[in-house]
Amino acid sequence: ICEEEPMPVEKWWRTRQDILLERAKLGTPRYVYHLPTLRAQAAKLNDIKAVDRRYFAIKANSHPRLLQELHALGFGLECVSGAEVERVFEAVPGIDPERLLFTPSFAPRGEYEAVLARGVQITLDNLEALQNWPDVFRGRSIWLRIDLGRGDGHHAKVVTGGAESKFGLPLSRLDDFLAAARAIDVRVVGLHAHLGSGIESPAHWAGVHAELATLADGIGTVQTLDIGGGLPIPYLPDDGEFDLAGWSNALEEVKAAFPRYAIAIEPGRFLVAQCGVLLATATQVVEKDGVRRVGLDAGMNTLIRPALYDAWHDIRNLSRLSDTAEIDFDVVGPICESSDVFGHARGLPATTAEGDVMLIADAGAYGYSMASFYNLRALPEEEVLE
Ligand code: LLP
Repeated sequence: ICEEEPMPVEKWWRTRQDILLERAKLGTPRYVYHLPTLRAQAAKLNDIKAVDRRYFAIKANSHPRLLQELHALGFGLECVSGAEVERVFEAVPGIDPERLLFTPSFAPRGEYEAVLARGVQITLDNLEALQNWPDVFRGRSIWLRIDLGRGDGHHAKVVTGGAESKFGLPLSRLDDFLAAARAIDVRVVGLHAHLGSGIESPAHWAGVHAELATLADGIGTVQTLDIGGGLPIPYLPDDGEFDLAGWSNALEEVKAAFPRYAIAIEPGRFLVAQCGVLLATATQVVEKDGVRRVGLDAGMNTLIRPALYDAWHDIRNLSRLSDTAEIDFDVVGPICESSDVFGHARGLPATTAEGDVMLIADAGAYGYSMASFYNLRALPEEEVLE
């Protein structure tokens, strides 16, 4: 069998060791975002011809500087709470409300009202909202989030389609939704499906595209098909780059069959994960029953992905990057929970010691944005390298 070697993924931080060690002196835990890497990821998506509108799902990272940059690069900003909408208006003063999209889940009525008053496009994902709050939506053009009856993703906890999932209008209720919409003069101008996060198969989105287009043909008023986010990034050393060419070729084919619809996407992770690293300081190195552990001043309160999804992030000792005599360590945080582990049996320099600066890679997506005050530990710092 001749398998293609995965493309090596360039890591910006390997050549920025000195500057990162300098920044760590200002305090850890600290997220550092590298704008050139963000721009490179954005350029990859801007090159995709089949896509007409690109939104960034700001839940992945709502740092104002990153929002400004993505806005300047032509991206819209997809929000899921009133506070995210306000963050965008603060970060990008004077932004055209048409560049925002509001796709909440189980949001309170007042949040829809406030966001609509801002002139922002909203997405509904259930029939009850229309039935219970007709005055909020009467006469409006809305997008509709559909549950296509299946989901996908890197972990069961990030699958957002199928009967088990709280998201989206099931196809069995589509006719009822359209009837209720007509009754209050609501027009469905967009159809949306986001079935999960970190989806590996490039064919997934073309499938969603085709299914939404077929539904849109039956509705008649739809202009835009939003095929969601969910694009993966290579976290593991053996993960290849996502096959963007295969992804876009498949979309082009569907678009040729359904040329009348504009295609929108709303990725989060793909744009920001790799531009971010988390810097932490080693607090203690402890041996117990044959297991060596290095503790950090960052924990599951700082980056919850390993604890919540068993997510894998590369971990390096930045103070000893060139030291190749490695032994296994469990890398843990200071939180009083057994799940507060960043990685098991990770190869790190045998000399790893208190005070070393440790780097957790690919932490720009769902890092700071999911951080908490748990155990009354402070939120991490954040900064941007231009
Ligand atoms: N659109 C909608 C409606 C979403 O719910 C999400 C993510 C996205 C777009 C962006 O998905 P992305 O391109 O980033 O995969 N915290 C988890 C991921 C949860 C994503 C929730 N929704 C993680 O750290 O893996």
